[in-house]
Amino acid sequence: MSVQPILSVTELKKTFPDGTRALRGVSLDVMPGEFLVMIGSSGAGKSTFLRCINHLFEPTGGRIVYDGRDISKVSGAKLRRLRRELGMIFQGYNLVKRLSTIENVLLGRLGYMSSISGALGLYTKQDRERAVELLIRVGLGEQRFKRADQLSGGQQQRVGIARAIAQNARLVLADEPIASLDPKASDTVMSYLHEVTREENITCIVNLHQVDYAKRFADRIIGLKDGEITFIGKPEEVTDKVIRDLYGEKGDQVDE
Ligand SMILES: Nc1ncnc2c1ncn2[C@@H]1O[C@H](COP(=O)(O)OP(=O)(O)OP(=O)(O)O)[C@@H](O)[C@H]1O
Ligand SMILES: [Mg+2]
Repeated sequence: MSVQPILSVTELKKTFPDGTRALRGVSLDVMPGEFLVMIGSSGAGKSTFLRCINHLFEPTGGRIVYDGRDISKVSGAKLRRLRRELGMIFQGYNLVKRLSTIENVLLGRLGYMSSISGALGLYTKQDRERAVELLIRVGLGEQRFKRADQLSGGQQQRVGIARAIAQNARLVLADEPIASLDPKASDTVMSYLHEVTREENITCIVNLHQVDYAKRFADRIIGLKDGEITFIGKPEEVTDKVIRDLYGEKGDQVDE
């Protein structure tokens, strides 16, 4: 039996009300367990693509099938269930600053609880143990009672990773997870994201500006330009020409 894609996107389009055509017909099959990195210059449509998948933006055309279910148009309970299965990691971390590290990881469990249990913080013993385990796995076991706003940027993003995994997400979407970090913290965050999602067999789509990180971690690289995929291939297939085509002749994103 052949393996089915976990995500199958066909001719996805997004035109904003002001007429901007951010996605012009993007088609992509993502296989279970893949680590995909999407690159492309500013405005290419990378964020819009991730936002259409989890319906932070409504697509204006095309089809999205996730785990065999058509999620091109979802709302209400179906959307809540979908969001629970899709982990999001953001450039700005999106932690609740006044909560502790472990409480932030536990927020990943909220989608599975009644609103009353959630409001009262009635997490199960298993949830708490899993949260501690995940914090240890991202190197933050010792920091678990620290307030989120007392952590460094790189540490906060590692909490973001633990929270997405705590959700039992099978697909993690990360939009520029290292854009606000220095090279050392970027390295640590990308390494943990890659390692933990490999261990848990979680599929990842990561938007990055840094071509060197894309080449280092990706199974496949997707090049997006003006709302269209102009390149799909393995890291070693990303030649200088591919990069010039994606980013223009300036070469200011080229790091070799
Ligand atoms: N809410 C919106 N309303 C109108 N246009 C938008 C909106 N959001 C994004 N756009 C436009 O859609 C296009 C794609 O934007 P998007 O944010 O997806 O690019 P990106 O590849 O993520 O860029 P960056 O690398 O700078 O994050 C851009 O032209 C942008 O101006
Ligand atoms: Mg973006």
